[in-house]
Amino acid sequence: MIIAANLKTNLTRSATCKYIKELQICVQNSTQNVIVFPATSSLDSYESNVTIGAQNAYPVENGAFTGEIGLEHLKEFEIKTILIGHSERRHILGESQEFIAKKFHYFKEQGFQIIFCVGEPLEIREGSKEEMLTYIHKQFEGIDTTYENLIIAYEPVWAIGTGKVPTLEDIKEIHKELKKKSSAPLLYGGSVKVNNVKDILSVENVDGVLVGSAALYAEHFCTMIEYADELQQSRH
Ligand code: 13P
Repeated sequence: MIIAANLKTNLTRSATCKYIKELQICVQNSTQNVIVFPATSSLDSYESNVTIGAQNAYPVENGAFTGEIGLEHLKEFEIKTILIGHSERRHILGESQEFIAKKFHYFKEQGFQIIFCVGEPLEIREGSKEEMLTYIHKQFEGIDTTYENLIIAYEPVWAIGTGKVPTLEDIKEIHKELKKKSSAPLLYGGSVKVNNVKDILSVENVDGVLVGSAALYAEHFCTMIEYADELQQSRH
């Protein structure tokens, strides 16, 4: 399974270094594919079995894009994994679908592993199921859903950082729909915690989780990785 931590605008470089070291202890005994997305200024060449990914980068090698980093900054640390389309970049930073698709295309051309996020805000959720699916399908415009290095993350906006989670039945239903769109591994994200991760990972078509706030403590994130191992062992 894919167990990923999006650290967002948290953990300084020294805190991230400590965090990765703590994770290494549990990851070395695990069969899970663990990915961590540190804040941009905390990217580095960490010695670890954990895959380090970028939360964001501008789709250029380098250039005049104040405040952004480009491909060469990722290459410096051999980073080949990137998060694209996260709801905070769509809604807070105002990234358009057109720009997201451009970014996707660029990093696909570079052979990156792309974790592509989709998810509906509350007002869409409160409408019909058809409206919700139409909304989510639009978030795939310009995106190559057959890309071999693609991972999709379904993250309902209303569940991010709120402690609210869709029912397991709802996750099952939407993941089933999303699997029709792409055969890429499909993660669930939004208020995943130590106490619900096992249930969420047990849902059909959930291939992993993308965890925000609950992953900020290495101990909690390690527990989630251990749960994923237990679950996988129980299936064999
Ligand atoms: P929370 O786990 O804090 O809800 O955040 C989820 C998320 O946005 C992961 O990318």
